Amino acid sequence: RINRRSMAVLAALVSVLACAPTDEPPPRAAAGRHAGAPGIGDTDFPRDGNGGYDVANYSLTVDYTPASKRLTGVTKIHAKATQDLSSFNLDLTGLDVAKVTVDGDPARFSRKGGELTVTPAAPLVADSPFTTEISYSGTPAPAKDTANLGTYGFIPTADGAFVASEPNGSKTWFPSNDHPADKATFDFTVTVPAGLTVVANGEQTAPPATSGGRTTYRWSERHPMATYLATATIGKFQVREGRSRGGIPTYAAVDPRFKTSLDKVYDLSGEITDYWSTVFGPYPFSSTGGVVDDYSAGYALENQTKPLYGGFDPDEGIIAHELAHQWFGDSLTIKRWKDLWLNEGFATYAEWLWSEHKGKKSADAIFKDFYNRGAQDPVWAYPPGRAKPGDLFNESVYTRGGMTLHALRKAVGDPAFFKLLKTWTAQHRYGNVTTRQFVDLAEKVSGKELDPLFDAWLFQPRRPTLA
Ligand code: ARG
Ligand code: ZN
Repeated sequence: RINRRSMAVLAALVSVLACAPTDEPPPRAAAGRHAGAPGIGDTDFPRDGNGGYDVANYSLTVDYTPASKRLTGVTKIHAKATQDLSSFNLDLTGLDVAKVTVDGDPARFSRKGGELTVTPAAPLVADSPFTTEISYSGTPAPAKDTANLGTYGFIPTADGAFVASEPNGSKTWFPSNDHPADKATFDFTVTVPAGLTVVANGEQTAPPATSGGRTTYRWSERHPMATYLATATIGKFQVREGRSRGGIPTYAAVDPRFKTSLDKVYDLSGEITDYWSTVFGPYPFSSTGGVVDDYSAGYALENQTKPLYGGFDPDEGIIAHELAHQWFGDSLTIKRWKDLWLNEGFATYAEWLWSEHKGKKSADAIFKDFYNRGAQDPVWAYPPGRAKPGDLFNESVYTRGGMTLHALRKAVGDPAFFKLLKTWTAQHRYGNVTTRQFVDLAEKVSGKELDPLFDAWLFQPRRPTLA
C-alpha cells in the first residue's frame, strides 16, 4: 500500500527534477527465424517479459557487500521452450554480464536497453526443457519511474538493500522473464558480510553458514511466484520466528530502528493470516511474516510470504492489506497490469473487512464515506478496471476497486459474496487471472447478471448511482 502523504511530497520533487520519458517504438522480434519476442505481450508494458519460453525455476546465487555496493551473481534458470528458438531474451538493466551458457554450453549474448538476447550454440526445440546460466556483476541501480511514483527494485541502503520490485524491477538485480504472467519457483543463496541478515521468500533451507567473515543464507520459495515479488532484503535485523495460533510458520524481521515493532508485526501477521484463511480460503504458502526496513520507500509491498514495509511502523490496516495480497496478487496473479484492481481493490477491501471484524467501522460505513466525498472526487474520472501504465497505483485502483467489491457484495448478498471469494482463490490458486474471469465467476456463483454493475464501477469515468 502506498503512503499517500509521503508520495505527494516525492511526486512534487520528482516532477521538478525529472526529464520527460522517451517514447520508444514498439518492440520488433530480433533478427533470426525463430527469435523469441522481446516482450511477453502486455501492450501497456511492451518490453516487459519475453516470448518463446516459460520459466519453471530461478536459482539465484548473489554475493553482496553494502560498503562497496557491489553485487556478483549467477542466475540459473530452468525453462521450457514454447516454440523453436534461435535466440531468446531475458530482462536485465545495468550490471555487466560475463558469461551465458545454455544447457551447459557457452552461448553468444548481446545487450540493448533492458534486453539481454541469448543465442544458444544450437537452436532450442519447441516444448523442450532447457537451462541457462548467467554470470554477472556490478553495482545495482534501482528503477525510478516518476509516473508510477517510485523507486523500486534492488535499492542499496546504508546497511544492505531494500528489495521491492513491483511492477518490473526484478531486472535491476537478476536476469529474468520480468512479467507476472510467467511465474516460477525460486531458490536463493545469498552471501553477505557476517553480522547482516538476508530475508528472502519462502523458508530457510539451511542454517546460515559463516566462513571468512561472510555468511551465506539459503531460502526457497516452492510455490510459483511472480518475479516482482522476489526479495532478498539485506541488513541488520532483529528476528522473531515461531508459529501462528493456527499453526502457520511465521517470520518477522525489523531493522533495529523499529525494534519496538517486532512483537507487534510478528503477532499481527500471524493473527491476520489465520483470520484471512477463514475468509479467503486456506493460506496458499508455507509461511507468513513481515519485514520492516529503515528505507523510507513511501510504500509497502506484498513480497510473497514476506511483506516488506518501507521505513515506517505498520499499523494493522496495512498489515491486513499486504497479507490479503498473499491470496490476491501472489497466489492469484494478474496476467496483465491493466487488471491491477484484482490486487489492489481486493487488498483495500480486505482492510475494510478487517476493520469490520475488529468491531471498528463497518465496510459499509467506509464505502459510504468514500462515496460521499462527492461526484467530483478524482477517483470517478479514473476507471479502475483499466489501470493506466503511467499511473498504475492511482488511488482509484485501490479505493474505487474496493468500492466495486462492496457494491458487488450488496448486489449478491453476503453468502454468495463470501462463497465467491473462496471459489475464486481455490479455482485459480497459484495461477494467473483476468477481470473477465472474475466477472464470469461472480455471475456463476450468484446466478445474477452483473455486467452492468461491473461496467459502471470498473469502466466508466463517472460516479455510479447507488442501487
Ligand atoms: N502493491 C503495493 C501495495 O499496494 C504497492 C507498491 C507500489 N510500488 C511502487 N513502486 N510505488 O501494497
Ligand atoms: Zn496493495
